[in-house]
Amino acid sequence: MRSAFNGSRRALATSSRLVVKYGKQFPQRSGVPLSPSLAPSSSRSFSASRPVLTEPYNALDTFQDRHIGPNSSEAEVMLKALGYQSMDAFVEDAVPQHIRIPASVVSNDAIPSLTESEMIKRARELANLNKTYRSYIGMGYHNAVVPKVIQRNVFENPAWYTQYTPYQPEIAQGRLESLVNFQSMATSLTGLDISNASLLDEATAAAEAMVMAFAACSSKKRTFLVDTAVSPQTHAVLRTRAKGFGINLVVADVHSAIKQGEVLPDLCGVLVQYPDLNGQISDYRALTDEVHASGGLVACATDLLALTMIKPPGEWGADIAFGNSARFGVPLGYGGPHAAFFSVKDKLKRKMPGRLVGRSKDSSGKLAYRLALQTREQHIRREKATSNICTSQALLANMAAMYAVYHGSEGLQRIARRVHNSARALKDRLEFMGYKIVNSTFFDTLTIDTSNVGGADKVHEAALQNGINFRPIDGTLVGVTLDESVLSRDLLDISNVFAAAAGASLSGGESLKLPSGSAIPTEFQRTSQFLTQPVFNTHHSETEMLRYLYSLQAKDLSLCHSMIPLGSCTMKLNSTTSMVPLSWKEFATIHPFVPIDQAQGYGQIIKELESDLAAITGFHACSLQPNSGASGEYAGLSVIRAYHESRGEGHRDVCLIPLSAHGTNPASAVMAGMKVVPVKALGDGSLDLQDLSDKAKLYKDRLAAFMITYPSTFGVFEDGVQEACRIIHDYGGQVYLDGANLNAQIGLTNPAICGGDVCHLNLHKTFSIPHGGGGPGVGPICVAEHLAPFLPGHPLVRTGGSNAIDAMSAAPWGSASILLISWAYIKMLGGDGLAAASKLALLNANYIADRLKGHYTLRYKNIKNRVAHELLIDLSEFDKAASLKVTDFAKRLQDYGFHPPTCSWPIPTAMLIEPTESETLEELDRFCDAMIQIRKEADDIISGRQPKENNVLKNAPHPVSVLTRSDAEWNRPYSRQTAAYPLPYLYERKFWPTVSRIDDAYGDLNLMCECPSVEEFAKGE
Ligand SMILES: Cc1ncc(COP(=O)(O)O)c(C=O)c1O
Repeated sequence: MRSAFNGSRRALATSSRLVVKYGKQFPQRSGVPLSPSLAPSSSRSFSASRPVLTEPYNALDTFQDRHIGPNSSEAEVMLKALGYQSMDAFVEDAVPQHIRIPASVVSNDAIPSLTESEMIKRARELANLNKTYRSYIGMGYHNAVVPKVIQRNVFENPAWYTQYTPYQPEIAQGRLESLVNFQSMATSLTGLDISNASLLDEATAAAEAMVMAFAACSSKKRTFLVDTAVSPQTHAVLRTRAKGFGINLVVADVHSAIKQGEVLPDLCGVLVQYPDLNGQISDYRALTDEVHASGGLVACATDLLALTMIKPPGEWGADIAFGNSARFGVPLGYGGPHAAFFSVKDKLKRKMPGRLVGRSKDSSGKLAYRLALQTREQHIRREKATSNICTSQALLANMAAMYAVYHGSEGLQRIARRVHNSARALKDRLEFMGYKIVNSTFFDTLTIDTSNVGGADKVHEAALQNGINFRPIDGTLVGVTLDESVLSRDLLDISNVFAAAAGASLSGGESLKLPSGSAIPTEFQRTSQFLTQPVFNTHHSETEMLRYLYSLQAKDLSLCHSMIPLGSCTMKLNSTTSMVPLSWKEFATIHPFVPIDQAQGYGQIIKELESDLAAITGFHACSLQPNSGASGEYAGLSVIRAYHESRGEGHRDVCLIPLSAHGTNPASAVMAGMKVVPVKALGDGSLDLQDLSDKAKLYKDRLAAFMITYPSTFGVFEDGVQEACRIIHDYGGQVYLDGANLNAQIGLTNPAICGGDVCHLNLHKTFSIPHGGGGPGVGPICVAEHLAPFLPGHPLVRTGGSNAIDAMSAAPWGSASILLISWAYIKMLGGDGLAAASKLALLNANYIADRLKGHYTLRYKNIKNRVAHELLIDLSEFDKAASLKVTDFAKRLQDYGFHPPTCSWPIPTAMLIEPTESETLEELDRFCDAMIQIRKEADDIISGRQPKENNVLKNAPHPVSVLTRSDAEWNRPYSRQTAAYPLPYLYERKFWPTVSRIDDAYGDLNLMCECPSVEEFAKGE
């Protein structure tokens, strides 16, 4: 296993040595010793009562008690309701015996627990191991200046970061408006027609652009040409993606390749970078004309700040423009999470990957935002999808959009001018010292020839001595990229480094002269206006900004208000303590490509997290690189393909996937170059083992993999999982376990004992990274020993297996900074707490199933009448009886102050409910009361006491604007009180949807994905 942060994870997992402290033994699992002050606190496994302090000095800030909602007496009430004497007896019925693991595997002995304050202390120690050098490395990553009003009120604000993806738009108008601002910002700056609401990172956005170009020519032309001056991490991710689609990737100087013409007949697209990796701003107009003439598309990786000064790609003919938006106020965080923007010409909008927010109207005719063209989402398109993106980077997109709102076009221009002027002043000074600047044009990046001082090493050495990083290019060339953080003092420090390397005396405090002119050729200077919409020209004072943020936040339901019982999404507590270290500069300001010795704190966290995740899943090794669950699926399947190839079985390309699978599963399989063959389910929801066996046999020579979600997407632990895996192995296939439901497993079972070879985990579900309104996420993969050599590598930082596949993400450890959250979650719960959390997740779900019995039809349960951590209720009877759809129940739940459960998935007539362990009995009861009351309302409609069309369900939700209509306008056969306050608790805790039901069809037919213009604003539309 290659890893810059050293060696095999298995070695880590097994090299535990025992440390004796205060008479207790606990294993120490990592290279960096725990300081004596951080001895794990005493074991706090789930017991009959909250810990009683028999010792006066026991720590009080134990995380398990804060994280897990029900206390012991509440758990006892629930167990009793289900007819159990003990938690163990209940778990025995819920989880099949033959897949159970010994409790010791995930215990405090295996993963010691820290109290909240101990964790913070430990995080501080690790933070101090990171070196906060000033990095001018560039390559798509810049030091951002995060406006504090945005940092505190978005980034650090649970009302923003604990929201779910806005699939329920009536209770999500705030973030939908903010995402429209993000789209408008990207559209306006790139000069293209339409933009989406973020992708995972710049490199994966490049891969999406390549696949769009391939799809746009109906996959008839297979050559995609990429310029050599595109970032190396983008090249690597393109190589990975090209392989699965069978695209012929040609890397060359694009100008000469197009001039020579050989590539043209088979060309589907070209990718250029603007400004390029070395800072040069090139003219691609003629090239674009030629590519268009041959029927291909031109995609362009670009930079939002540069676009305030240089001609936007849309104006010189590019079809697609994308890039990293993080320099708009999002911390470096050792590589992420950052939101990629993606903009296209109008003709390509229906093929665009990712989520798109559009305008529509509600049932009162009022403007309302919603996710547009949702039919493109993967669970509908499945193997026909060309992209698997599901979770994206919503929170970071919101931060970047707010940055643009705060600064406006003038503010952005001021920032860009200062950056550009700094680069010009530096160039002047360096030339004066005898250095040669290689790029003739630039915005913020200089490529410097150091031959005059005998080579680049001298410069890098002098830089390191001064706590500065430049970009190493080769023995002679050095790259310097400036950004908003650079003040005159920094500029002097940079030039002094070059002076020192040249043996000149340091220039002290004298200021740098600003030469006249510009390094942007006149024909490439931006002349068009941008960000003209009112929202970008209003909120420039902090007071106004704060009020704007809070006005949007008030429209959105988040975990701050009530439980979000979305099945398969595991919307659990995201503890404040685990989020705190993210804002520390020792974690926030590290560039992903710094020399590894500057990121030792990160290294230790990565190592410990990989080791803990390997222990939890029962696997050998782990890669933290994938930026989402779907990205993990794609990585895992690519690893399986590489394994087959290494054995001379590269022809194995069939992937068996149950019909009930999440839509990203088949989409990822296709992206990894596999052919999807569906497997049926039996009437009780379990896998049809006969069908599986028949198909495995039928495709025995081509069988590559079987993808299964466990517990199943129907919410049950199936008995036959090991048998299913055995069948696959017998026919030479590998088993991919979708770990989205791992919250049901920890400490009780694991993917390895179930028979899997590889699984992904959604750290943004089970391991408590907040959902951020649709991202960020992290989708690490854990693999068995024989697959470990193939874990993804990276072109710039050593990571992954000894025979690594190419990179999955732009940064070596993906969204590295948020790994801290999962690391802290695991450390604070410890092994016992993790297992207790899973038990409570199971108990909470089974308690809801029991309370809803007799009111709703539970679709699936195991032979002991138990569900797993979620339950599927079928509402088809209401449709048959009174045309009441799943949506009607969902919208009515909004009136009760709840986010609806997952709707119409995995079966169209059902709701999938997942409470998680962090909800208390009181909250579970409140939710059940609401569901039962809605059932009564439905009965009134079925029995004819209420009409079939004009009723509380069909008219839901009920915003204030509807309830305050005059008596004449209130033409409904129920009172306003029934509409708004159907249960007494609502008088205390009412959350108001801000619009009434939104018209989906209207929004898709009249696709509008930008915020209102000045004219519309003036008209009050
Ligand atoms: C079962 C399952 N698999 C895969 C995914 C995809 O994960 P992500 O949204 O992080 O890409 C999800 C997401 O909800 C899921 O529920």
